[in-house]
Amino acid sequence: MCGIVGYIGKKNATRTVLEGLKRLEYRGYDSAGIAAINASGDIFLKKAVGKIVSLEKKLNPIPSSTLAIAHTRWATHGEPTVENAHPHTDCKNEIFVVHNGIIENHEKIRAALLREGHTFCSSTDTEVLAHLIERCIAFGASDLAEAVEQAVRHVQGTFGLAVIYSREPAVLVGVRRGSPLLIGLGKQEYMLASDASAIVGKTRRVIYLNDNEMAVLTPFSKKIFHLLRSGARRKKELKKPVSMIDWSIEDSQKGGFDYFMEKEIFEAPSVIENALRGRIIARKGEVKLGGLDAVRNRLRDSRRLIIVACGTSYFAGLIGKYLFETFAGLPTDIAYSSEFRYQPSVMDKNTTVLAISQSGETADTLGAIREAKKRRALTLGIVNVVGSSVTREVDAGIYNYAGPEIAVASTKAFISQLSVLVLAAIYLGRMRGFLSSEKSAPILQELLSLPGQAQKILERDVHKIKEVARVYKNHNNFLYIGRKYSWPVALEGALKLKEISYIHAEGYASGEMKHGPIALIDKHFPVLVVSPRDSVYTKTLSNIQELKARGAKIIALASEGDTEIGHHVDHVMTIPKVREELSPILSVIPLQLFAYHMAVLKDHDVDKPRNLAKSVTVE
Ligand code: M6R
Repeated sequence: MCGIVGYIGKKNATRTVLEGLKRLEYRGYDSAGIAAINASGDIFLKKAVGKIVSLEKKLNPIPSSTLAIAHTRWATHGEPTVENAHPHTDCKNEIFVVHNGIIENHEKIRAALLREGHTFCSSTDTEVLAHLIERCIAFGASDLAEAVEQAVRHVQGTFGLAVIYSREPAVLVGVRRGSPLLIGLGKQEYMLASDASAIVGKTRRVIYLNDNEMAVLTPFSKKIFHLLRSGARRKKELKKPVSMIDWSIEDSQKGGFDYFMEKEIFEAPSVIENALRGRIIARKGEVKLGGLDAVRNRLRDSRRLIIVACGTSYFAGLIGKYLFETFAGLPTDIAYSSEFRYQPSVMDKNTTVLAISQSGETADTLGAIREAKKRRALTLGIVNVVGSSVTREVDAGIYNYAGPEIAVASTKAFISQLSVLVLAAIYLGRMRGFLSSEKSAPILQELLSLPGQAQKILERDVHKIKEVARVYKNHNNFLYIGRKYSWPVALEGALKLKEISYIHAEGYASGEMKHGPIALIDKHFPVLVVSPRDSVYTKTLSNIQELKARGAKIIALASEGDTEIGHHVDHVMTIPKVREELSPILSVIPLQLFAYHMAVLKDHDVDKPRNLAKSVTVE
């Protein structure tokens, strides 16, 4: 979603934030802008709609400055236009603000400011912030920091803000409530960013701001405070821990692949390895998850688990439900985070709510966690981005260690989420005395073999999958079906195809087809059937017959060595044979590759599909 970068220090600030913006491109955006101030207080503001190169053209030559803020915008309030792009400014063009989040009461504030004579240039919610700060300065705030602090008291909603003021050309102010913001630490220089990717080429040392914290940065000092309530007395400066970013700029580059998505699919073997590393004592059938130790007792006493997540993470959660019920005997429900927030779910201290999120910043999932906490549930997270908001809000959790996922369409995160879910289910099963070590040991042994099996798929089958994609690239509709563990895989396969190839794709439980969707089927409506040799294989074969009888073209995703299925379908893609609880970790790979090649053949911008953002930080 929207991205923020700010810089103060001795380098050219304009160039530095521009480079940061380019590294945020992967998040998805529709316009971008920069405001810079040089040491004498001269201001420079440029904005452009579309790609960052359009903004760069307007910056030629790049003006030198010591202080700058920049933003990539993904429209929520107001069209993607130059006027609506950030930074936004006040009536005197002295204060500049970039903002992630939503100001919910912006209309009311705007009306009041209009009555006082302020003039507005955009239809965004953000612009009210610039005018509110201007107003606070006019009414006596002693400096920019105090004015920002006073201004945000009037605001309802969420924000991560970076603010500069031409009369204080050596101060950069950042403040957060509900939208991520971190400080990058350099030598006599500081950066502000909504995402570590924006600064990773410049520094590895960062401080994550929590909600209601404000940073006041100069080239020589950094001060972090709690936001004060009106009339409260300033408390001492906060001393916050410095974290190290442990991935490099190369990690977030394409590494010889055409697209990040392709690179990330090919990382599957190492992603599984990283998720499992140091967490399995195979011969004892034990799983170690240090992140859950602190809540071990509450977890053991839990009587119900509710998984909350969105999009791809939700589909991982659907598989998680089967895993927790099978391996841990724990009654498990799953809800979309956006629905959970408003559901009258009955919860108590014996309920555990598990949030799954790649980014750890998804607004709906954060909202679901807060709701669960209100209702006294134990909250857990399975999260990829270290230090993200979810990790700081839950009681305990497990990291994916999948590395940065840049492509908007999630691939490697799904694979690592499934790997971690298997571990978590076995951990719980063993701890609760539901699963014996005789049963868990062979499952863990097989889990450890999956990186090699994933590698086999990637080395052997890509050409074939590309050929199948060539056959189907001009179809406008697709149905994906599967049963039991393969049903969520079908849903995820369909989501991938929709997201990047813009082909209408439905994911369905195979058994549900006859209750409606089969009416759609004819020779123009191809069906991809996820059909490994599992406990429901024969039922899936019957579904294939029903489809064939209606003239459907069928692609089957089958287990290696299945000589029967080829007689009933048009194309077969294969995965190595593994137990059904583990098969989604492998079966999703050909579906990711299929969607990827369909999109490439259609000449789409695979990594940045239209209308989508990597991290959805608005409700
Ligand atoms: O970062 P999260 O896992 O919380 O994100 C959830 C969804 O927004 C995400 O999975 C989305 O559906 C992706 N575009 C899927 O490819």
